[in-house]
Amino acid sequence: MSQKTALVTGGMGGLGAAVCERLGRAGHTVVATYTSDGGRVAQWRDRLQSQGVENLYAVQCDVSDWDSCVAMAEEVHSQAGAVDILVNNAGITKDGAFKKMARENWDQVIRTNLDSVFNVTKQFADNMAERGWGRIINVASVNGRKGQFGQTNYAASKAGMHGFTMSLARELARKGVTVNTVAPGYLATEMVMQVKEEVRQQIIETIPVQRLGEPSEVASLIAYLASDDAGFITGANIDINGGLHME
Ligand code: CAA
Repeated sequence: MSQKTALVTGGMGGLGAAVCERLGRAGHTVVATYTSDGGRVAQWRDRLQSQGVENLYAVQCDVSDWDSCVAMAEEVHSQAGAVDILVNNAGITKDGAFKKMARENWDQVIRTNLDSVFNVTKQFADNMAERGWGRIINVASVNGRKGQFGQTNYAASKAGMHGFTMSLARELARKGVTVNTVAPGYLATEMVMQVKEEVRQQIIETIPVQRLGEPSEVASLIAYLASDDAGFITGANIDINGGLHME
C-alpha cells in the first residue's frame, strides 16, 4: 500500500491509540490530536515507536471548537503535509436518563461528537478532493443504531454522524474520496469501563459473542477502509459489535 498521512482525532484514547498503531504499522505517517492532557503524549509515542512506527505527530486540539480546529489544521499542514486519511474518532459520553439530563450534558456531547465532525472534516475535505484521493472514516456507535437507555445525547450525536457520512459520501464520490461510518459495539476501553460494573455485565450478557470487543479489532476495520482496496465502499455504516445489533 502506498504511504499516506493519517489524522486521528482523539488519537490517544482507548480506540484512537489502537487506530494510530494500526495505521502506522501499515506504513502511514500518523498524526493524533489530543485535548489538554499532554501527559499522554509520551506514552503514546513510546507505544507506537515500540511497534516500529517512526513518523508521528501529536497536535493539541479541542475538536468541539472551530478556531482550535483551524489552528490544528495549520499545524498539521506545516508539520506533516496534506492529510489523506481522516479518522473522526474523538468522542465523549455524559450518560443519564433523559429525565435528569442537564442541558450542559446534551450540549457537550453534541459539540464534541457531532460538531467536531464538521469542524475537523471542513479543514481537510476540499484538499482531498483536489488531490483526487481521500478517506474519511467517522467512528460512531452501535448505540447510534439502536439507542440506549441513558444515552439520548450520545445516540443522537452518533446517528447524526452517519447522516453526515451519507451526504458527504455522495458529494465526494466522484473525487476519489470515500466517506464511511464505523459503528463499534462495547469495547474494552476506559469509556466502557465508566459504565457501572453491574450494568456492564448485564450488557455483556446480551452480546452474542459474550465479550467486549478489542480496540485492535476495530482498528483493523478502519485500516481496511483507509486502504486503496476499499475504494468501492462509500456511504456505508459498518457494524462491528459482536452481534449486539443486527439489521
Ligand atoms: N434499562 C431500563 N431501566 C433502567 C436502566 C436500563 N438500562 N437503567 C436505569 N433504569 C431505571 C432505573 O431502574 C430507575 O428506575 P426507577 O426510577 O423506577 O427507580 C430509572 O431508570 C432511573 O435510574 P437511574 O437513577 O440509575 O438513572 P440515571 O440517570 O442515573 O442513569 C444510567 C442511568 C447510568 C445511564 C444507566 O442506565 C446506564 O449506565 N446505562 C448504560 C449506558 C451505556 O450503555 N453507556 C455506554 C457507554 S460506552 C459507549 O457509549 C461506547 C459505545 O459506543 C458503545
